[in-house]
Amino acid sequence: MANLLLLTAAGLLWTARAQPAPSVQAGIAAAIKNAANATGPLDYTAFVNPFIGTDNFGDVCPGASIPFGMVKFSTDLTGYAPAGYVTDPTQSIRGISPLHDSGTGSSLGTYGNFEIMPLLCPKGFDTCTTRLVTRERKRKNNTDVASPGYFAQTMNNNIKMEATATRRAGLERFTFPKGSGKPYFVLDLTNDLPNSFAGGTMDIDPDMGRITIGGLWGSSFGPGSFNYQAFACYDILDGGAQQLSEYGLWSGNPYGMDTKNLGATHLNLTFNLIGDHYEYGALFSYDGEPEEIIIRVGVSFVSADQACSNAESEVGGSTFEDIEAQAKALWNEKLSKIEIDVPNTPANVTELLYSSLYRASLTPNNATDETQGVFAGTSSFYFDSLYCSWDTFRTFYPLMSLHSPVEFAQIVDNYIDGWRKNGWMPECRANNLPGWTQGGSSGDVIVGHFATHYHNEAAALGIDLEELYSAAWTDGMVNPPEWDIQGRQSNVYNQYGFVPFAVLDPSSTGRQTREGSRTIEYAFEDFAIRQIAQLLGKTDDEALFANRSLNYRNVWDPTVVSDGFKGRDFTRKFNFTNPTHCSPVDNVTTECSLQGDNTNGFYESSSWEYSWFAPHDTAHLIELMGGNATFISRLDHFFKAGYFNVGNEPSFQVYPIGYHYANRPAQSVDRVRQVVFENFDITPAGLPGNDDQAAMASLLSFHLLGLYPVPSTTQYLVLSPFTPQYTIHNSYLDVSTTVTTVGFNSKSVQKTIPAGVAAYVANVTVNGVASGRCHFDFFDVFRVGGNVTIELTADKDEANDCLGNVPESLSTGGFSAAR
Ligand SMILES: *[C@@H]1O[C@H](CO)[C@@H](O)[C@H](O)[C@H]1NC(C)=O
Ligand SMILES: *[C@@H]1O[C@H](CO)[C@@H](O)[C@H](O)[C@H]1NC(C)=O
Ligand SMILES: *[C@@H]1O[C@H](CO)[C@@H](O)[C@H](O)[C@H]1NC(C)=O
Ligand SMILES: *[C@@H]1O[C@H](CO)[C@@H](O)[C@H](O)[C@H]1NC(C)=O
Ligand SMILES: *[C@@H]1O[C@H](CO)[C@@H](O)[C@H](O)[C@H]1NC(C)=O
Ligand SMILES: *[C@@H]1O[C@H](CO)[C@@H](O)[C@H](O)[C@H]1NC(C)=O
Ligand SMILES: *[C@@H]1O[C@H](CO)[C@@H](O)[C@H](O)[C@H]1NC(C)=O
Ligand SMILES: *[C@@H]1O[C@H](CO)[C@@H](O)[C@H](O)[C@H]1NC(C)=O
Ligand SMILES: *[C@@H]1O[C@H](CO)[C@@H](O)[C@H](O)[C@H]1NC(C)=O
Ligand SMILES: *[C@@H]1O[C@H](CO)[C@@H](O)[C@H](O)[C@H]1NC(C)=O
Ligand SMILES: *[C@@H]1O[C@H](CO)[C@@H](O)[C@H](O)[C@H]1NC(C)=O
Repeated sequence: MANLLLLTAAGLLWTARAQPAPSVQAGIAAAIKNAANATGPLDYTAFVNPFIGTDNFGDVCPGASIPFGMVKFSTDLTGYAPAGYVTDPTQSIRGISPLHDSGTGSSLGTYGNFEIMPLLCPKGFDTCTTRLVTRERKRKNNTDVASPGYFAQTMNNNIKMEATATRRAGLERFTFPKGSGKPYFVLDLTNDLPNSFAGGTMDIDPDMGRITIGGLWGSSFGPGSFNYQAFACYDILDGGAQQLSEYGLWSGNPYGMDTKNLGATHLNLTFNLIGDHYEYGALFSYDGEPEEIIIRVGVSFVSADQACSNAESEVGGSTFEDIEAQAKALWNEKLSKIEIDVPNTPANVTELLYSSLYRASLTPNNATDETQGVFAGTSSFYFDSLYCSWDTFRTFYPLMSLHSPVEFAQIVDNYIDGWRKNGWMPECRANNLPGWTQGGSSGDVIVGHFATHYHNEAAALGIDLEELYSAAWTDGMVNPPEWDIQGRQSNVYNQYGFVPFAVLDPSSTGRQTREGSRTIEYAFEDFAIRQIAQLLGKTDDEALFANRSLNYRNVWDPTVVSDGFKGRDFTRKFNFTNPTHCSPVDNVTTECSLQGDNTNGFYESSSWEYSWFAPHDTAHLIELMGGNATFISRLDHFFKAGYFNVGNEPSFQVYPIGYHYANRPAQSVDRVRQVVFENFDITPAGLPGNDDQAAMASLLSFHLLGLYPVPSTTQYLVLSPFTPQYTIHNSYLDVSTTVTTVGFNSKSVQKTIPAGVAAYVANVTVNGVASGRCHFDFFDVFRVGGNVTIELTADKDEANDCLGNVPESLSTGGFSAAR
């Protein structure tokens, strides 16, 4: 959802933190070094740093998870911590909990329910500090450790908390210092990160050693009038190896209430209208002063019984080490879909790439068989936390399309099911609830991307293309009653060919803002529908949606001048706004996001930024802007003036790869190097803002691989890889594609490519046959597999020409036939 904190984050300086443990980076560095002498298969999890993006508003969750896991076990910290954990050593730990999202950019936070906190209560049960503010504790410095499937943190009282995960369950292990006395645990009913508790129950079964919780909570990024249900099952006796001592309930509030009820077992708070006023939960202790306590946790969105059976079936009696090894194996299977020449790749590139690939498979959360509301009992796959399709259509799903058609098809099935059950495909599902629409119906582009790549395999992958088309067509044609959560204001857009600044819409509601960016996004979504229509031979619809995809031109005002450049999106035709407003250098305090007083015309962007967005028709955009030379100087100015916002999705396209479209590909190579080294690194602050459901991770992956996707097409721009060789495995298609960077020089892998160092693309071959050097097609490359060479030269001038291979545009006859 991009940077809700876009403007406030700018200008803050972040200093090095004491977290995570130095052993994390040391271990990764050693693993990369040792790869040179490895004999067996590499352990790709050893290259992953889960802490990248846990500072500087990256909002990444470093918690224990399997790929697309429904649970991600992490500690929850005080302060700004939407994903639970943050590195900031001034913040305190409130406990550890199983449900989190990663990279969502919601300042409220999301999930964090069912939190447990180990305590020492030397003066007994009644004296335990159970409330959030009384129990919070600073960490012990340099003890935060995480790797794929594992998370650990130690508090300054030397109690260590560890977790490992399956899809819907996990194990927690708590180690108390020797001689610290009886271990206590407080377990929350009411708490979650956004303080949204709306009612629930808690039951302690002391004989069975089981605590069940269920309740209703609210969305982190959607209307407050909706609630979701969630359940947990805590098995606290480790199969009989641990004995309970005391158990009971507690309650407290900020005004002095702090009550314990020894022996009580049942809470039934049917209804909560006043929010986080009261805190409630369980409190229990163990006999015999054990130093280690194992707790098994199951989660469900269906029922407490299902939460228990998830724990039984997924964890059963397995040890912590078993579950951890199982999670690690699942991660290696995912991470090894892209293998690079580790010994000859700069170490930071290896770590950045595998950490990014890790996050690119961390979300969305696979909640198949855990459905509620209109999805209850669906026979389709179901994924929670789609967060906004506006973030993920550009790079996240295109990256997945290269190697994971099975997973991609499951997610597409889930999008289509959204249309079946709700009438329109989901735009921004958060916490199992409809979230706020950002650009319209970007799901069209996601299913369009799948269709263009896998139409031959769609039926075998469980996707009916006609149904997929109906879902996208509905998004484009059928006006929803409330487009804040259901996609597009299509009645108005279809009538005018753009969304006017002020129009009386008699048949749907939504915030009358963002007219410029909505028009531009709707037009690209229409292009995606055109692509599917073309594929299915629906020629009338193909023509209709092709026309509509050119509607981005209807918000172009050629009379506006900004910094000497003529023409801007969305201005006088509606109401003049300064094209620099809501850019990173805007010093006007106008609202830029979903607020009702965002009259700027753009969502989380400036007109300068959105003016580049017509990925399907950039050739015409170049004409509008005054030709190739002006387009290039305008791109340069966009960057120099500070209007480029790397942490915001609309900037992915066209900058920094836009020079390709003006036939200057070597300049894209320079810019990508600069953007990567100025904005990404291997530290916790190494992301330029929210990861946005791994939109940033997948953008960075493409940059490092020297590729860039054109969404909902099979076209990939070719740039200069940061590694001498990589292989992309597509096991479903049973093909592997090895890309060799001939003439790779690690000296080119820095912010400014030194003169005389080979880095620019001289020529490209695919299985021995010369290919264009600016772009190639999925069906010629990753669909068939084999060997690709990207041969580099130091002669930038020679390489700065596509030699007739400029990426396609509709208005110059591009995308003329489906592959
Ligand atoms: C932990 O690290 C923080 C930040 O670097 C520092 O302020 C604090 O003094 C450290 N605590 C200990 C116990 O060393
Ligand atoms: C790899 O093996 C070679 C030869 O035995 C040795 O010289 C080198 O130090 C080893 N490298 C690493 C990283 O262990
Ligand atoms: C909880 O209380 C409500 C009334 O407020 C009652 O209808 C319901 O049966 C109770 N549930 C349980 C599990 O005790
Ligand atoms: C999601 O979970 C279902 C049910 O376990 C499983 O069949 C499917 O493969 C999973 N998909 C992904 C992408 O994890
Ligand atoms: C597309 O637009 C052109 C030009 O406005 C128009 O002549 C043509 O009829 C349109 N085609 C369709 C299918 O709407
Ligand atoms: C139109 O723009 C002007 C100048 O930017 C501004 O003062 C005015 O409030 C805007 N009108 C509306 C309806 O937003
Ligand atoms: C924004 O800052 C610039 C440079 O300091 C200044 O010239 C300009 O007047 C400011 N604009 C507004 C609206 O404050
Ligand atoms: C831009 O350059 C390309 C490739 O040289 C050329 O085909 C195109 O006509 C040029 N566009 C304009 C508007 O001059
Ligand atoms: C690797 O990244 C670290 C942390 O950002 C940085 O200090 C170091 O200079 C980088 N090394 C290289 C060779 O780029
Ligand atoms: C590819 O580029 C290299 C470096 O510029 C050049 O030496 C070689 O002749 C080119 N090969 C072909 C087939 O064009
Ligand atoms: C790719 O290159 C490898 C190694 O040179 C070779 O064994 C293989 O046959 C090549 N594959 C194709 C499809 O050309």
